[in-house]
Amino acid sequence: MEWTEDLSVGVQTIDNQHKELFARINDLVAAVKQHTCKYKIGDVIKFLEEYIVFHFGEEEKYMREHDYPGYLQHKAQHEIFIKNFEELKKELPKLEGGAKPGSYDLSVETNQVVVDWILDHIAKIDKKLGEFLKDRV
Ligand SMILES: [Fe+2]
Ligand SMILES: [Fe+2]
Repeated sequence: MEWTEDLSVGVQTIDNQHKELFARINDLVAAVKQHTCKYKIGDVIKFLEEYIVFHFGEEEKYMREHDYPGYLQHKAQHEIFIKNFEELKKELPKLEGGAKPGSYDLSVETNQVVVDWILDHIAKIDKKLGEFLKDRV
């Protein structure tokens, strides 16, 4: 997955964080798809998760600082993601050790839970926030 200009929310800090997020998501997708000893699933998950928590926190801080009217709805979306990611996190370690390398089901699930969600969230929810913040930060 690639960050393109049309995904810009108009706030540089958030755009930069999204780019970093994409890089880490790509590592996870690669690790799931071509599971080799080059990748440690647990490490890649942890690396991505840390960044997700950081990034959501930053957006939520912006929202609180500027009294964003959509704060609660936006935060609720972040929480749904974290919950779904928790579920995925229980599945993914099965790749390590026992399971077949490059499990097709897990690849599909990872794409749905992480990739599709992030793209949709940025395009709709984060952009709306960006519109609001643009003239304020
Ligand atoms: Fe967000
Ligand atoms: Fe975001």
